[in-house]
Formats: sequence, structure tokens, C-alpha cells
Amino acid sequence: MYRTLRPAATTKTAPPDALAVALFGKPARLPAEYATLDRRCGGALGRAVKRAEFVADAGRVTTIYPDTGPGRVYLLSLGDREKFAGQVLRNAAAKLLRIAWEGKVRSIGLELTPGLGDAIDAQPAGRAVGDGMAAANFEFIKFKSDQNDKRQLSAIPATLQLHASATFRKGLSWGIAVGRSTNIARDLAASPPNVANPAYLVRYCRTMARQIGLRCRIVNAAQAKKLKMGGLLAVGAAGSTPPALICLEHRPRAAASKPPVLLVGKAVTFDTGGYSIKPGASMMGMKYDKSGGTAVIGAMHAIATLKLPVHVVGLIPTAENMVDRTAYRPNDIVRMYNGVTVEITNTDAEGRLILADALAYGCKTYKPKSIIDLATLTGAVVVTLGHEAAGLFCKNAALRKKLLDAAEDTGQQLWHLPMWDEYKPLLDSPHADLVNSGPRLASSIQGAVFLSHFVQQNKQGQPAWAHLDIAGVSDTDNDSAMFNKGPTGYGVRLIVRALEGL
Ligand code: BES
Ligand code: MN
Ligand code: ZN
Repeated sequence: MYRTLRPAATTKTAPPDALAVALFGKPARLPAEYATLDRRCGGALGRAVKRAEFVADAGRVTTIYPDTGPGRVYLLSLGDREKFAGQVLRNAAAKLLRIAWEGKVRSIGLELTPGLGDAIDAQPAGRAVGDGMAAANFEFIKFKSDQNDKRQLSAIPATLQLHASATFRKGLSWGIAVGRSTNIARDLAASPPNVANPAYLVRYCRTMARQIGLRCRIVNAAQAKKLKMGGLLAVGAAGSTPPALICLEHRPRAAASKPPVLLVGKAVTFDTGGYSIKPGASMMGMKYDKSGGTAVIGAMHAIATLKLPVHVVGLIPTAENMVDRTAYRPNDIVRMYNGVTVEITNTDAEGRLILADALAYGCKTYKPKSIIDLATLTGAVVVTLGHEAAGLFCKNAALRKKLLDAAEDTGQQLWHLPMWDEYKPLLDSPHADLVNSGPRLASSIQGAVFLSHFVQQNKQGQPAWAHLDIAGVSDTDNDSAMFNKGPTGYGVRLIVRALEGL
């Protein structure tokens, strides 16, 4: 995040540099809600809206410079009222941030609610605007030696004040706070594998935990060996630094005695595929194979920042899937933390092995009431859902609803896929309990079914468990209003919102 976004009360004393208003469609005249403002502007808004050249596509931002009144007015076009969704507002807000920034604006008065009418309440509208702005407020330029980008940055004001009414501001502050945590996740995800190796993530989490008041405990490789975490050790055997299991805990006094919610995120800092090596083109981008883990780190950051009254444990198994003489092989049989034996049929199906140990360890150690794991687990989920949604695997109706509601609310979409028992034989092994990868069919489902063998019941019963396959949504190849090419931080907002509902 390179600019501080600061929500502020609407003030009469210091008028902001600019105002932002919202508009549905291409109306014949300016809606009555903005009549007073238009009078202050000498009718400039009304005239602009009426012009034939005025383009009002959803997400478009038009800048108006009235002769009187505010220095400039940004008109956020929201498209058809019938097609309105939070995502329209997120995109428009993202665009607004980029334009305001080019204009070196220091403060904006957000007067969107009159234009939004009853299409969305003020607080969710504020959240969406905060989300969109925070998403656009991210660049990963620390490795650029051409100082151009950096100079450009130092020329813009470091802080942007956002004036808004109290209810809208409540949502806005949430969006910006969670956006900052999301951008931490994105920064980590974008960090190259020669820097952000497992040891780096361990150090990062230790420091972060100290700074924001989380507990942090590391299961290092030696301890993992004693604990017999065969999956984590096998995958990380050839890594440039040893594998580890990072445990972050948020335990507010009010919920200290409650069983926690367990978050588990795959952090493979680079996935070559191992001996089942990936072809060059598919290996490119595998620095993003830690995005489930970085989403959990970002979510824990947000949870601590917002002081959510929920007991939450974040587990991040981290390893680098590499090739050398110590690497694991196809046909190896490894014994996992919970004693289940796995025949390795494909060293490229590594994520499920490190997640499996983390899940079994998490179930035994923390006795959670519910578990959500996030992982860039399969290329197949990208074939199925493209870049529009993560795959959701969850047999518990209540948890599933919480997640689907949170997905709707945050625009981080989920689509429910099955994990029926009929799929289980796909993972049969002749010589071990399971293979880590079966035949080509139902590949994403196989991943989920594999993990189900490591979700262990406790005295309270079977924990509710959801698996999110985020391989298609964790990074993007195209620049858009919200996201430059690179990591999206998918999952942070979604998880925080779901936890607020749990
Ligand atoms: N990290 C990959 C999944 C992936 C693929 C993420 C493309 C993002 C983009 C994962 O470890 C993997 O290699 N999965 C295999 C599983 C297969 C061997 C069963 C895959 O999807 O091909
Ligand atoms: Mn792989
Ligand atoms: Zn992987």
C-alpha cells in the first residue's frame, strides 16, 4: 500500500479538494438529490450530464471542474440500476482512487449515498468503496531499480483524506483496514521465491505477530520430524530452507475459553512440481503457490487489527517444492502426522500433503469447532471456474452458508462443488492407505477428498470444515480497475467477513 487512506468526518470547516457523487445510467437530467450541490457548482453537473458526449458506462469516472463551488467533482457512473452489485461500486471506487491520485488530490468528500438511493445501504456501500480504493492502492515496485516509478510516487501526496457521513464511514474504515491487511498478503505473495522462502515467512510472521499482538509459535523442521509430519517433511526436503508450520493465534479474553476457528493456508513458496516436474510455462508464476498461506497471514493481521471477538488460529504450513537428491520421489510412501500412509504418485500434488499434516495437527492441538483452508491446490479448478470464483468444498450447511454470504458481500466469489464419498476410491493405493493423486478425472475434487482424511473429530464431534481451492483467483494476468497484474489477496476480506458472521 503506498498511500495512506484516511477516513474522516464530514467537515464544514475545511472543504475537500474534490467531491465524488454517484449516478445510475445516463439520465435526462441530474437527479434531484444533487440539486443543492449543483446549485453550488453553478449548474455544471446538470450541464455535464445532459451533454451528448457524456459516457455513463458502469465504473466510469468523469471529472468536472465547476467554475464555482468545489474544485472538482468526480461523477461515478454505476450503469443500470437493475444490474447494480457491490462490485460495480468497488470498481468505480478503484478507478476514482487512481484518478484522484493522478490529480494529486489530498481530500475527497464522498457524497455517494444520495445517488445510490436505496440500491445499497450506507455501511455496505462504504465497505465496497473502501475495498475498491484499498485494492487499487497497491504496487509492488521494491525490486524496480529504474527509479521512475518511485519518483512518480513521491510526487503524490502521501495521504488521502476521505470525508464521509458516520454510517458510510464505518464501512469505509472497515474496507480500508481489511484492505491494508489484504495488501500485506499481496506483498508477500508477490515476493520472489529467492527471497520469500519458508524461513522468510517464518521470520515475517514472528515480527508481524509481535507488532500486532498475535501469538506466534513455529513448528520447525526438527520438531516436525519428532511429530512425524511426514507430508510437510517430504515436500520440503529439497527446499532452499527447511519447511515449517507457522501457528498464529488470536485469543481475545472474551472468547479465550471457546474452541477456535482454524484457518489453514498452503504456503508453497515455489512449486517446481518436484520430480514430477512442471513444464517451463506452467512453472512460471508458481511463486503464487503460497497465496493460501499469505491470505491466512493477511486475515490474521486483519483479525488482530479489528480485534474481532473470536478465538482464531491460523496455521501456515510452508515448504519449497524443489528437486535434488534429498527430494521426495514418485512411489515413496510417507506416513503423515495422523498415521495415515500416502503413496506418492505425483510430487506435483504437494499442497495437499503439507495441508494434511497441518489439518491433522490443528485438529489434535486446538480442537477447533470449524476449519477453513485456502490453497492454490489444482490447475483443474481454473479449468472449471476460470478466474471468477474459488471452488468451495464443504459438507456443513451452516458453514457453507456463512461463506457463501460472505462471498456475496465481499465480491470474492465462491462456487460450491461436490465431494461425495463416491469419489473416495479414486485415491485407493495398492500399497498404502491413499495415493496423493489419482487418475485425471475430478482432479479438484480429489484434492478435497484427500484432505478430508485429515480432518479429525474431537470430543465435541466432527468440526465443520470448508476447503477453498483458490488457484484461479489468487493472481491475475491482466490489469483492471482494482488489480494490477499480480496477486489479488483473494480470501482476506472473505474470511474476515465470514468470521464476523460466525
Ligand atoms: N500449485 C499447483 C496448482 C496450480 C496450478 C495453481 C496452476 C495455480 C495455477 C498444484 O500444486 C499442482 O501442481 N496441482 C496439480 C495436481 C495434480 C498433480 C493432481 C495440478 O493441478 O496439475
Ligand atoms: Mn504442485
Ligand atoms: Zn502447488
